[in-house]
Amino acid sequence: MDPINTFDSFQISVNDISSQLAPDYMPRHVAIIMDGNGRWAAQRGLQRIAGHQEGLRALQDVLEILHELNVPYVTIYAFSQENWNRPKLEIQLLMNLLERYLQEERALFLKRRVRFRPIGRLHQLPPSVHGLVSEVAEETRHFTDRVLSVALSYGGRAEIIDAMRRMAVEVEMGSLSPSDIDEPLFEQYLSTHGLPDPDLLIRTSGENRISNFLPWQIAYTELYFTKTLWPEFRRTETLHALVDYQKRERRYGRVTQTVSS
Ligand code: FPP
Repeated sequence: MDPINTFDSFQISVNDISSQLAPDYMPRHVAIIMDGNGRWAAQRGLQRIAGHQEGLRALQDVLEILHELNVPYVTIYAFSQENWNRPKLEIQLLMNLLERYLQEERALFLKRRVRFRPIGRLHQLPPSVHGLVSEVAEETRHFTDRVLSVALSYGGRAEIIDAMRRMAVEVEMGSLSPSDIDEPLFEQYLSTHGLPDPDLLIRTSGENRISNFLPWQIAYTELYFTKTLWPEFRRTETLHALVDYQKRERRYGRVTQTVSS
């Protein structure tokens, strides 16, 4: 097919989908489980790391469109606690990819005033990665309008346990009373404190699971599952997910009439 025509029809389809989006009903916070890199690579007879490399390009595309659409908060599941059980070489290559990504993107974070906010048991990362992650987090710490949270060595239950431990220490020291503990207070001890809960969670690759990602925070989140493998989840797929989100009615346990009142 003529590549120019292919490009034109792609543009038209992206524009078509964009026109279905209502700017005043965009999610404020999108969380993403980027799954299917390994399968994408295997389908092409490539090494798994080639899938992660392509996955990184998909991430850059998706973050770009979310930026253009003014979605202020994005949280991505980049490396789970369970991922430590992968072969050593794959872990090392993923860590290298993360380092390269941060080195390349830190200037863009500063230019766009994006806060890079890592979440998870960061002390478990290799020292050089931990150092770089902390540096970029520190240099973007003062930005508040846009936040990219990256879950690294993250597990949702571990996050809740860590929060409870810190609260227990404060109770023991007498600076916190058990009767003061309620949901808003508990949230202050989570790594996502200060962020609104995700409005939309996207998971690719046909797995319809949460896999220990933000279990507390997604209590009322709209879930979007797609069979598309993460490396193929690009601008058009992102727009589809947003259009789907906008068709939903979020009731938070109430009846329709009372939601907007
Ligand atoms: C899951 O796919 C994906 C990961 C464990 C890593 C996600 C990483 C990236 C998208 C690229 C790098 C991101 C950053 C921030 C540097 P999988 O490998 O489990 O896929 P499979 O289920 O098909 O094997």
